[in-house]
Amino acid sequence: MDNTNVLEVKDLAISFKTFEGKVQAVRGVNFELKKGETLAIVGESGSGKSVSTKAVNRLLPEKNSIIESGQILFEDKDLLTISDKEMQKIRGNDIAMIFQDPMTSLNPTMQVGRQIAEPMMKHQGLTKEESTQKAIELMKLVGIKNPQQTHKHYPHQFSGGMRQRGMIAISLACEPKILIADEPTTALDVTIQAQILNLMNDLKKDLDTSIIFITHDLGVVAQMADRVAVMYAGQIVEIGTADEIFYNPMHPYTWGLLASMPTLDIHQTDLYNIPGSPPNLLHPPEGDAFAPRNEFALAIDFEKEPEMFKVTDTHYAKTWLLHPEAPSVTPPAEVVRRKQKYERLYAEKKNERHVGGEVVGSRG
Ligand SMILES: Nc1ncnc2c1ncn2[C@@H]1O[C@H](COP(=O)(O)OP(=O)(O)O)[C@@H](O)[C@H]1O
Ligand SMILES: [Mg+2]
Repeated sequence: MDNTNVLEVKDLAISFKTFEGKVQAVRGVNFELKKGETLAIVGESGSGKSVSTKAVNRLLPEKNSIIESGQILFEDKDLLTISDKEMQKIRGNDIAMIFQDPMTSLNPTMQVGRQIAEPMMKHQGLTKEESTQKAIELMKLVGIKNPQQTHKHYPHQFSGGMRQRGMIAISLACEPKILIADEPTTALDVTIQAQILNLMNDLKKDLDTSIIFITHDLGVVAQMADRVAVMYAGQIVEIGTADEIFYNPMHPYTWGLLASMPTLDIHQTDLYNIPGSPPNLLHPPEGDAFAPRNEFALAIDFEKEPEMFKVTDTHYAKTWLLHPEAPSVTPPAEVVRRKQKYERLYAEKKNERHVGGEVVGSRG
C-alpha cells in the first residue's frame, strides 16, 4: 500500500425526491481511498452506504436522485461532472462494483463466459478468442469448476455461490483500480464467503487494487479492512485505521455498533441492541443526529452538529465528547464485555491475514 489517493470524495450530499418530500440520504460525506487499501464502510441499514458508493459509479436512479453538492475525484477528474461517455469508459473498467445479489447484475440471456469476456474486448482490445481464453482463466481463478464447459452456461445454470464468483470474475476482468463490494457475500454460505474474501485479499495483494467493502459483518471487517468508516444517518461519524476503530473507538455510535454487529462467533441472540432508531431523513434533526439514542448525549448535542474531532492523524470522530471541555465517559459495561470478544476476534483475523499474505508471497 502506498500513500497515493486513488479516490477522493468531498462534501458529497445526495437526496431523493419522494412523494413525502426530499430524503436527505447522504449529508456531507468526505473520505479518501488509498492505492492498494481496503476501506470498510459499516453502519445500520439506511445509513447511506450504498447510495454514497453508487454515486462513485454514477449508478443512482436518474429519475429521483439529486446530487446536492460534492466532488468525486478520480485521476484528476470529477466523476460527478464528466460526460456519460467518459463515465462509461471508467465504470466496470477502472472502477468495478460487486453487489449482494448477482442476479440483478448478471445478464440472464448471456453466457457467463461471454459476460466476462465482453468488457475485455471492449476495453482492452482483445479478440473474441483471446478474451474467451482469458475469461476461462479468470473463472478458474475465482474457483468456478470446469470453466472449459461452464463458460458457456447461462446464469440460471449456476448456483448462487457460482454466480457470485461469476460476477467477481466480471468485475476483475478489467483489473479495476477500484473495486466496490456492497455486501457481496452476505447471501452466501460461510465456506464460500471465506473463499471469496481470501480471493479478494489475494487480488488486492497481486494487483494493488483499492477496495471499498460495505459489510454488516464484524468478522469480515476484521479480515478485510485496513481502514474503517462508520456511517450514521447519511454521514461518516468516525473513521480510522482498523486498529483504531477496533481498539480505541471514540464515538458512542461506534461503541453500540461494534457490540451489535454479528460475527461468526458472536450469535445473533447475544447481540447488543442500540436503543431507538435512526432519524427520519425527510427531516434530519438539528444537532447530532445520534443524540436521541445516545446515553452520553450532552446538551449541545441537541443544538449543534459536532465537527469531526481529530484523535490522531488517521483517526477522526464526529462527537462533542471529544471536545476538550466535554466530560470524560467510558463505554457501557455491556459494550466493554463484548469489546473484549471482538478485540480477540480482530486479533485472530489479523493474524490469519498475515499468514495468508505469506502463503501468497511464497508462491511468487
Ligand atoms: N431510490 C431511492 N428513492 C428514495 N430513497 C432512497 C432511494 N435509494 C435509497 N434511498 C434512501 O436513502 C437512504 C440511504 O440508503 P442506502 O444508501 O441504501 O442505505 P444503506 O446504508 O443500507 O446502504 C435510506 O433512507 C433509503 O431509504
Ligand atoms: Mg446498502
